[in-house]
Parts: sequence; structure tokens; C-alpha cells
Amino acid sequence: MVLPDKIQAMVARKDLLHTTVVLAMSADGKISDRGRSPARFGSAADQAHLEAQVALADVVLFGAGTLQAYGTTMSVRERALKQGRQERGQSSQPVQMVCSLSGELDASAKFFDQPVPRWLLTSQAGATRWQRTNHFEQVLIAPQLGNGGIDWPQIWRDLDNQNINRLAVLGGGQLTAALFEAELVDELWLTICPLVLGGERSPTPADGQGFLAAQAPQLKLSLVKQLGEELLIHYKVLARARRDGSEA
Ligand SMILES: NC(=O)c1ccc[n+]([C@@H]2O[C@H](COP(=O)([O-])OP(=O)(O)OC[C@H]3O[C@@H](n4cnc5c(N)ncnc54)[C@H](OP(=O)(O)O)[C@@H]3O)[C@@H](O)[C@H]2O)c1
Repeated sequence: MVLPDKIQAMVARKDLLHTTVVLAMSADGKISDRGRSPARFGSAADQAHLEAQVALADVVLFGAGTLQAYGTTMSVRERALKQGRQERGQSSQPVQMVCSLSGELDASAKFFDQPVPRWLLTSQAGATRWQRTNHFEQVLIAPQLGNGGIDWPQIWRDLDNQNINRLAVLGGGQLTAALFEAELVDELWLTICPLVLGGERSPTPADGQGFLAAQAPQLKLSLVKQLGEELLIHYKVLARARRDGSEA
């Protein structure tokens, strides 16, 4: 039976792993300053929220720009969160997967000393530098589309086939934009922090080419919570079929 396009998209979407984007941003919508420095403006409560989201994930995904900025990744350290992972039958730490098609990463970054499993998502050319080293447990070659872009839905299917159920995306703006474009994001957590960063080139939660309003991913507000001077906001991303009104 051939399903109408919209329903087919919805069915395909539901089969894929659950994807949560977690970001902190300034009151003017920037995830870093004009120097692209690591975003350390979130409070301790925001850091705890981030760690809790990381603890729920099987795989944590971030872009090379984010690794370059921080040099490290968020691992699970809190005892109760580690115990939660054990109770859910998850490994002690989620896999930390960095996306870099060029493969040009700093091998001396502290990230490579962190006690976490590391995977690299890269191109054939980018893989050559890392395949014979012990920096990554797995080096995945990203399937690419005719236009040179990454075939993200195929990657999601491949991860799904490896029994990966939950993925947390920790930025930055280039990566999240691509995942929104590929309609792979299910949830968005944003922490609005009490500062203004400005800068027309400062990164935002979703950079890339941007969407026209008519095609923009639509969100449904699910939670707003005040954390001291910050606001924690949780959105669910509406599937295209639901946005278009074809789902009851
Ligand atoms: N506030 C927060 O919560 C938060 C969280 C994370 C990051 N940040 C900030 O965000 C900034 C980094 O963000 P960013 O947008 O510059 O970089 P990014 O998205 O972290 O990484 C961009 C790089 O990752 C690879 N990549 C990502 N998406 C790709 C795609 N769709 N196709 C191909 N390659 C892709 C490419 O690496 P190659 O060029 O190596 O191929 C690309 O240059 C930093 O300033 C950081 O501090 C803030």
C-alpha cells in the first residue's frame, strides 16, 4: 500500500530514535559571544539540568565547533544520575559523538582524556587521521547527499539499528540547524540566561541558512520553570504532518 507523502513522513519519523536538543542562550538569543568562547554563563542549576539530560541519553552528539570551544564534553558525574542509568539498563556513560567532516580536531584536547566512550562522525577523508588511533572507539563515515550535505535520516536509522533509543544534541548552532532541517528533533530545552551577548555573527540555537516562517519547524510549549534569574523552557517539536493539520 502506498501512503500519502505526509503520512509516510510521519510513520518514518516515529520509527526513529528520540532526539533532544539542550542549549543555554542569552536573553537576546545567542548561545555564545562574538569570540565563540565556551558558553559558561549558565548557573549551577542549568548545569545540573544539562547533566540530567545527558544522563538520559544513549548518545550525546555535538559539532566540531562546540568541541573546539570547550575542549571537553559533559559527562555524567552525579551519583543518582549514574544509578538511574544503571536502573534503566544503560551503559555507565553515554557515547559522546563528535561530528566533523573534515576530521580536523585537536588530538590534545582534554576531551580525549575524559573517561567516556567517544565516537567520531566524519567523511572518508576525515576518517583517515583517526582510524588507526585509539582516540575514538568508533569512526562512522557519514552518508552524504548529492549536494555534499550529510544524510542525517540515514544516520538516525543506522543508530536505531544499533539499539540506540535516545540522543541528546548539545550544539552548536550549525549542527542543530541541520537536524531541525532534517526534521529529526523531537524536543528542545532552552535555558534563557540573564545577559545580552549581541553580535550579528554570534551563534544562535539554530544557524545554517535559516527557514522562511511558512516552513519553520513549529513548537509546542510543554514546560516553563524559573531557576533563580534563569528561565528553563521545554518545547516539543511538532511533526510536519501534525503542523500541516493532517494528524488528528
Ligand atoms: N550555549 C550553549 O548551550 C552552547 C552549546 C554548544 C555550543 N555552544 C557554542 O556554539 C559555538 C559552536 O557552534 P558552531 O555552530 O560554531 O559549531 P558546531 O555546530 O558545534 O560545529 C560545526 C562543525 O561541526 C561539523 N558539523 C556540524 N554540523 C554539520 C553538518 N550539518 N554538516 C557538516 N558538518 C557539520 C563541521 O565540522 P568540520 O568543519 O570539522 O567538518 C562544522 O564546522 C561555540 O561558540 C560554543 O561555545 C553553546
